[in-house]
Amino acid sequence: THAPLIDPFARPISYLRVSVTDRCDFRCTYCMAEHMQFLPKRDLLSLEELDRLCSAFIGLGVRKLRITGGEPLVRRDIMTFFRAIARHLDTGALDELTLTTNGSQLARYATELAALGMRRINVSLDTLDPQKFAQITRWGRLEQVLEGLQAAKAAGLRVKINTVALKGFNEAELFDLVKWCGDEGFDLTFIEVMPMGEMGEDLRLDQYWPLSALRTRLAERFTLTDLPESTGGPARYVRLRESGQKIGFITPLSHNFCESCNRVRVTCTGELYMCLGQEDRADLRAPLRADHADAPLIAAIRDAIARKPKGHDFDYSRQQVAGQMSRHMSHTGG
Ligand code: GTP
Ligand code: 5AD
Ligand code: SF4
Repeated sequence: THAPLIDPFARPISYLRVSVTDRCDFRCTYCMAEHMQFLPKRDLLSLEELDRLCSAFIGLGVRKLRITGGEPLVRRDIMTFFRAIARHLDTGALDELTLTTNGSQLARYATELAALGMRRINVSLDTLDPQKFAQITRWGRLEQVLEGLQAAKAAGLRVKINTVALKGFNEAELFDLVKWCGDEGFDLTFIEVMPMGEMGEDLRLDQYWPLSALRTRLAERFTLTDLPESTGGPARYVRLRESGQKIGFITPLSHNFCESCNRVRVTCTGELYMCLGQEDRADLRAPLRADHADAPLIAAIRDAIARKPKGHDFDYSRQQVAGQMSRHMSHTGG
């Protein structure tokens, strides 16, 4: 066994997010450009390389593994990877194997995901209006996602809906979204839109809906109680007393949560990003491909963790976007 990963700010790294593809069947406007240049296959980590990489991190103390993309379920043969990596659940080395998805392929895969030990999934959904859904995803079909969600429910997966709070877009749907999630038995987390990708600065500022304001709106109809618990992610949760629902807030802009950061992310090409909001990264593909032994890979991981930055520099205050990343959110899987 190896010493666990601790960063320079004494934060233990126990949560790994791994993107398995840069592709997606949608093009959410805050996440991707309409015309994306996708990577050639040889640049991607193979399913075997992904397994080696995740297993190395688990050996270094990662307890929670979240698979992201792009849309992870559009990667060919991805179930082969899930079936293999689920062995770490059986041995107890991993507490949680989970997925962030747009839901479009869940009708096909939900049963198998549940069968291999997945307990809950996060599904991105910003609106319940089919037209607006097609607009924000550029061409997605809401009905397909709703079918996927029913399949997830039927398979016994717990579902958390991720909604990016967008002023002028889904502001008016706040209570509809809350009610629908309550009726369906889904948790719901709101996320402040982060300045990533190529959208013009004006647009991002225009769309910014601080969750403090959203929370105030919620409090007009519900009694909110802060919950002490965490899912190990960045969300802070409240309970709505009247409906019993759990609502999460992810507030990178209005309330930075970096001091308790426990995570790093790997892109589908094997770049380790130590922080979502910084450019510094380490190439893990080279050590993976250079050697069948894991020692060089583990050394590269330790080197990288030793320079994990304190936090991001995203900032919308003073009516200006600061800390913006030119890379798209889809690159690091959020
Ligand atoms: P739970 O396990 O349910 O807590 O999920 P999670 O919030 O960790 O993961 P999810 O993929 O659902 O992420 C939701 C949102 O949180 C996405 O928009 C992510 O970009 C954002 N997010 C996750 N981790 C970080 C982080 O370290 N920093 C920032 N700024 N945002 C993050
Ligand atoms: N700001 C905030 N959240 C974003 N996501 C994608 N792009 C952004 C952004 N620019 C969300 C997706 C998904 C999660 C992984 O990240 O909606 O729920
Ligand atoms: Fe961690 Fe960076 Fe996210 Fe802050 S922005 S929580 S430091 S990954």
